[in-house]
Amino acid sequence: MTALLETYPPYPFVLDRGEGEYVYAEDGTRWLDYYGGHCVTLTGHSHPNVVAAIAEQAGRLIFYSAAARLRVREQAADALAAFLAGAGVGKVFFCNSGAEANENALKLAIKATSRQRIAGFEGGWHGRTLLALSATDDPKITDPYASLLAPHTRIPFADIAALEAVDWSAHAAVIVEPIQSMSGIRCADAAWFARLRELTAAAGCWLICDEIQTGLGRVGAPSAAEFYGIRPDAMTLAKGLASGVPVGAVILSEAAAATVKSGDLGSTFGGGPIAMAALLATLAVVGEERLVARAAALGQRLKSSLPGTVVMRVRGEGLLLGLECHAPAAGLKQHLMQNRILAGGSGDSRVLRLMPPLTLSDGAVEMLEAAIATYTG
Ligand SMILES: Cc1ncc(COP(=O)(O)O)c(C=O)c1O
Repeated sequence: MTALLETYPPYPFVLDRGEGEYVYAEDGTRWLDYYGGHCVTLTGHSHPNVVAAIAEQAGRLIFYSAAARLRVREQAADALAAFLAGAGVGKVFFCNSGAEANENALKLAIKATSRQRIAGFEGGWHGRTLLALSATDDPKITDPYASLLAPHTRIPFADIAALEAVDWSAHAAVIVEPIQSMSGIRCADAAWFARLRELTAAAGCWLICDEIQTGLGRVGAPSAAEFYGIRPDAMTLAKGLASGVPVGAVILSEAAAATVKSGDLGSTFGGGPIAMAALLATLAVVGEERLVARAAALGQRLKSSLPGTVVMRVRGEGLLLGLECHAPAAGLKQHLMQNRILAGGSGDSRVLRLMPPLTLSDGAVEMLEAAIATYTG
């Protein structure tokens, strides 16, 4: 028994340490991690370069708020802006989590446009703070707060006619997960994104890409916005951004950034030096180990190797994948657990999610392929 409030059904072991694509339990068992601590361990568990950067920074300065200029914070912002240049965003605000990033992006849009209504998509998931919840399509977590949510519109996803039916001039912002993860790796195509960008731009409605799962190379491009060829007004990042050290970011286009005044945004811990050092090391590893190309190549491989008697189709891009099964996916998830492979469920009972580190080795891919091949249902 522990005093810890249980908010999630835990794995049947106590985790002790992690290394690369594996985690090790206290009982000595080793688990291959295709869940990635919920899409967080971008560079694998405890990558030595990230560990060294954190240790070095901790010895130099653990914390100072935005009241002081910090070289490491400015370097992190510059490196992130350079990484995201292909999506046309480059002014960075750091906070601590995904929900906080989305909350701030939506607040900025509301202030800049003087409109109160926000839009999100059916199947979208953006976090548990109130504006993020207002854009989230998950009645389990939104219904208790129904009267507190901001005015919002829920639009069918990946449907051009549905986009054309919206009065975008009545909306401050629309927020989109370019690949909807929680609801089961649901994708749209480049033509749909182009139309979304065109309609929102014409009406002065901010387009916010929630890249908390899709960002940082996971989809086989630096961002999903770049992958689909759009330039949002704002992008939000968290999860893998500092390889597991908590950090969130709102990254704005120049025009969006021009609406922000000193004092509009704040966060005591946002942009703290340890997170910034971990972020810089993470981006360096992504570049040095060519992880964006690796994610693209492994995604292609798994899309062709996994379909068969169990997996009907592999959805998604790069290493954000959904295995669409012929039968409910719980059986396959259990079989993988028996083979000491961790994977994620989803809101779609037939879809199992894979969100492993981008450093995934060929051996780890072969282990997954072999485990799925031995599943008889
Ligand atoms: C797409 C997306 N947006 C936002 C969030 C919220 O992030 P956080 O849990 O860091 O607040 C999540 C978390 O799973 C997410 O998957």
